[in-house]
Amino acid sequence: MTLRVSVIGTGYLGATHAACISSMGFEVIGVDTDPAKIALLAQGKVPFYEPDLEELLAAEIASGRLSFTTDITGTADCDIHFICVGTPQQAGSLAADLRFVDSALDAVAPIAKAGSLVVGKSTVPVGTAERLRQRLAAVNKDVELAWNPEFLREGFAVEDTLRPNRLVVGVTSDAAEKKLQELYQVNLDANTPWVRADLPTAELVKVAANSFLATKISFINAMAEICEAAGGDVTVLARAIGYDPRIGNRFLQAGIGFGGGCLPKDIRAFMARAQELGAEQALEFLREIDSINLRARQRVIELVRNDLSDDLAGKKIAVLGAAFKPDSDDVRDSPALDIAAQILAAGANVVVHDPKAMVPAQKRFPGLAFAETIDECLADAELVLHLTEWKIYREIDPDAAKKLVKNAIMIDGRNALDREKWIAAGWKFRALGRSSVQ
Ligand code: UDX
Repeated sequence: MTLRVSVIGTGYLGATHAACISSMGFEVIGVDTDPAKIALLAQGKVPFYEPDLEELLAAEIASGRLSFTTDITGTADCDIHFICVGTPQQAGSLAADLRFVDSALDAVAPIAKAGSLVVGKSTVPVGTAERLRQRLAAVNKDVELAWNPEFLREGFAVEDTLRPNRLVVGVTSDAAEKKLQELYQVNLDANTPWVRADLPTAELVKVAANSFLATKISFINAMAEICEAAGGDVTVLARAIGYDPRIGNRFLQAGIGFGGGCLPKDIRAFMARAQELGAEQALEFLREIDSINLRARQRVIELVRNDLSDDLAGKKIAVLGAAFKPDSDDVRDSPALDIAAQILAAGANVVVHDPKAMVPAQKRFPGLAFAETIDECLADAELVLHLTEWKIYREIDPDAAKKLVKNAIMIDGRNALDREKWIAAGWKFRALGRSSVQ
């Protein structure tokens, strides 16, 4: 008999996971406490922008395999319950807020049937799974707990979920591993590497991977600072070191740094947890990774002041990009939006454009002005900031753009534009880590 699966928490991770597991042929019920979110999803609508997800969701609902509810008792006969709720940063602390994880566990524990499996997917501080295992056992001793971290990237969520580069399962029994192998059989058939681990290791894999990625980005941004001081070019440096397969060329794009709902909060929560474990020294370097990352935003603002004036009051500055990265409408901890907001606070007249993230950006910073089109954004600008590397910005014609702006000054915060083309069109072109260019 085919497995029945519940997915508790239908945000970014849960909605994607539910649709993808359904597309593998399983019956899936998505559960959330937010009735508005459930109502949207049930109509096949995704409350955020993610390429391919809406089509998949609609197709799976139409197939009859995927449904949504706010009532967790409707999942009582499921064989596997995934916990996919958020673990945001606590206000006033570096640590993660585990309230949603705890309440999801408390909701499913009494109703899960004997022999079923509760599987955590949320990113949590190490030790949480063992604590939840005991909490579950106290209520329902016939249900096991496992951990199966998720490595999906926004913008590639469907692809990463359907074709992950590895599957990691933290289990305490062979039976639990077997059940997860049954679920992921299609991936195993495609030779996806399978890593069985204990619960703490499975939890750590996720934060270790994100810490490594954050470190790679901050490393290249530190090199960008050195290049600026020494007159070098970080883009050439990154390309040159990236040819070494031990280093690799991915995640070496210097610029305004990392943001989003994962990397920043995960490295902070990891440091907080290490301190609780008495191992804070081991992760002291992550504090530096965080500082380098935040410093990149200040360096862009310094470039703006150098080119315009220390006093930004009334200056019209065009900002291309608000999302934390392209192909996403997510503005959580977005470096682009943070820079826009800081320049606004300094008195500038900031006009922002983003192909997908304008509505969430406006919600967060109602004081910013937003332009529907790139042309409108650029009109009469005294300086242009390129802060999220959407493809459409690489397609801007520098000659045409020059006719729209007041001053042809471009600061490329992502090192993604074709510098020679912009310079040839008569622009002053600035970029982080490429100080030799005038
Ligand atoms: C990340 C991890 O990649 C993913 O495996 C995990 O499951 C969740 O967190 P995501 O938050 O979607 O995914 O974003 P990612 O693509 O990793 O980018 C994070 C940030 O780093 C973005 O702000 C991006 O602009 C920035 N970045 C990325 C750089 O500044 N330079 C780079 O070279 C790469």
